[in-house]
Amino acid sequence: MNRPSVLLALDGWSSSYEDAMTDAGFEAVAADREEALAWLSGDGRIDLAVIDCDRSQPGDEELFAFLHSTQRVPTILLFTNDIPEWAVDANPGVSRDEYARKPIPPEALVYRLQAMLIHSGREVPGGLPTTTADGAEIETVGEGTVVSLFAPKGGVGKTMIAVNLAVAIRQQTGDSVCLMDADVGVGNVTAVLNAPYHGGLAHLADSPPEEWTNDAFEQTVTTHEASGVRVLTWGTEPSESERISTDLLVAAVRWARTHHSWVIIDCHPSYDDRTMAMLAASREIFLVVTPEVGPLRNASQFLGLAREVGLADMVKVIVNRSNHGISVEDIAKTLGTRISATVVSNGPKAIAAANEGTPIIIKYPKEQMSTDLYNVARLLTRPVALEAPARRRSWWSALVSSANEAGKAVGR
Ligand SMILES: Nc1ncnc2c1ncn2[C@@H]1O[C@H](COP(=O)(O)OP(=O)(O)OP(=O)(O)O)[C@@H](O)[C@H]1O
Ligand SMILES: [Mg+2]
Repeated sequence: MNRPSVLLALDGWSSSYEDAMTDAGFEAVAADREEALAWLSGDGRIDLAVIDCDRSQPGDEELFAFLHSTQRVPTILLFTNDIPEWAVDANPGVSRDEYARKPIPPEALVYRLQAMLIHSGREVPGGLPTTTADGAEIETVGEGTVVSLFAPKGGVGKTMIAVNLAVAIRQQTGDSVCLMDADVGVGNVTAVLNAPYHGGLAHLADSPPEEWTNDAFEQTVTTHEASGVRVLTWGTEPSESERISTDLLVAAVRWARTHHSWVIIDCHPSYDDRTMAMLAASREIFLVVTPEVGPLRNASQFLGLAREVGLADMVKVIVNRSNHGISVEDIAKTLGTRISATVVSNGPKAIAAANEGTPIIIKYPKEQMSTDLYNVARLLTRPVALEAPARRRSWWSALVSSANEAGKAVGR
């Protein structure tokens, strides 16, 4: 494959960035603005661009406009304090462009470029193919919004919220929704959502990536008849879990988002590579916490790591069982962030619904717990949320290494 090219308009501080990009399989083209404009006006083709806005030279705006005139080149705009007016108008989040605050480590910039490639349907260098073995383009029909339910601690209600969120989005929008069970080894979404089981991704685990075709994924996905939500599971047998590779999960997300408007992922509660890849493929992460010291401490550590790599703003905190234990105000204070939604506890109803394989919002729509779950879905489906800047980033490696460092620091 051709190496994706990245134009670096960075004012002379680009060498470590060029190295990081070259190592990651990109072709880095460092140029000042004049050179870049001259080069692009000739035969120069570029896939992505990074512009340092800090010097606020007129050339920045001209270059940005040029990059969007002939080809729509996804661009990362870097700044330290103030975003220049023309860059505010550029409206990252709605377009394919993004902002990033300096200083940004070279690896972090690389992850973000990789994420941009994935979201523009391009192949990541060294990543998954965009063509089949015989050279045909893999069909892409849509660009679904990927939302992960995550908690570093198990048992806090991720699956319950994921299932109800998927159904609520489907009811609220009528859009196609894929619920993906990526809690490899233990998760069993089809046990709480009564949908037939077709083997899951485990069936594809021994096939080479070129056989991970649309038909192959279609055969593993099933439909929850009552809601129309499509369900894609990793499998059921813990013994199969080792065979489910990160690449297969990423390919599954990619397939899911090209064929559905929404992809809701129920993640494994850990910092393993597979989970971090799911978070990296997400546009939003719903961090689920319960009002207890243990889960809060874990959530706080996760948020700290996310802040460290400058990415906390894609995380929304959902407090489950919010009417017991530590108050929501104290949770917000402890976590140093606002709480986006709360879900009350309702043990008997939750158990009855789960035992029947019916989502609680369908079985008990009038309960407060269902109202709360619908409000969780509204975080995504109300128009204002759709217009909000949506970050699309790939940052699992940074997070994993930070997590490992944190682990060492506390003597884990
Ligand atoms: N708000 C709630 N009220 C009552 N019961 C709840 C609530 N949230 C979750 N539960 C119940 O708590 C149990 C754990 O929830 P769930 O399986 O969704 O957690 P999880 O985070 O997915 O756990 P794991 O990490 O083990 O997969 C389930 O029996 C579920 O029905
Ligand atoms: Mg679960």
